[in-house]
Amino acid sequence: MIQTVLRVLKKALPTRLASVYRESFVGDNPPLGEFYPIQNGSGINFSGGEFGELLSNHNGRSIVKMSNFINIYDDLLSPYKSAQSHSSDPLRLLEIGVSKGGSLEIWKKYFGESALIYGIDIDERCREISIPGVQIRIGSQVDQAFLASVLNELGDPQIIIDDGSHHADHLSLTLDMLWPHLQDGGIYIIEDTHTSYWQEYGGGYQKNQTIIEFIKDAIDTMHQSYIRKKMPVRTEFLRESLASITFYDSMIVLRKEKTAPTHRVSF
Ligand SMILES: C[S@@+](CC[C@H](N)C(=O)[O-])C[C@H]1O[C@@H](n2cnc3c(N)ncnc32)[C@H](O)[C@@H]1O
Repeated sequence: MIQTVLRVLKKALPTRLASVYRESFVGDNPPLGEFYPIQNGSGINFSGGEFGELLSNHNGRSIVKMSNFINIYDDLLSPYKSAQSHSSDPLRLLEIGVSKGGSLEIWKKYFGESALIYGIDIDERCREISIPGVQIRIGSQVDQAFLASVLNELGDPQIIIDDGSHHADHLSLTLDMLWPHLQDGGIYIIEDTHTSYWQEYGGGYQKNQTIIEFIKDAIDTMHQSYIRKKMPVRTEFLRESLASITFYDSMIVLRKEKTAPTHRVSF
């Protein structure tokens, strides 16, 4: 009797577990398009400060963003917009992933005349896109020589947005290459991080090479002076310059500043 029960369990368990796993984490991934409720021309009024206002009135190039990004962008970008009016140094923004050029158009409208806005994309068709005051360069986000040539033109940016391939093999590599060039006080934004859970983007739940897991390692690197163990080597380049990590739904934001181990202060 026991033997029979064990045999049935042995047969049934892996199948059951596999199907639970599939349903919960991989499942029937909808195409990205279905996940984006914001498309210009939809006539929707977006609340959320100046950025929402811009999107509500946008009738230019097509732009696709997750709905929760609107308020987040308003909070993230407004300090740079204000700082720019008191600085002789222009604001420099680099976005990976141009597509139809809609987001580049929005950044330009938001930051205005003096801002230097660059977009890069691997797709040759983006070469045809012309947006006044915006530069577009064609190449891959994992091509170090290409990135160096773009930064050589643009200078070190205060804002970098990775909305490119979203592929697990690319995101940490790009971060590693661009981080040293982000200005102190700057932010590095990675969009659409839900793709970390999707197979077609090299992702999967708790899969080591995804950007979600990579940035979890960065949490340890940030605290490494308090830990008496060897720290993850792969995020070592963030040590002493990673001031904060913010996880939003589908977005990660890293803030760069020179850091030193903190100490207790008595008052
Ligand atoms: C989500 S779209 C960008 C959308 C745009 N930022 C917007 O908000 O409207 C992603 C873009 O990344 C580009 N891309 C894919 N792989 C890339 C790579 N390895 N390097 C640079 N761009 C890449 C694609 O060609 C595509 O145009």
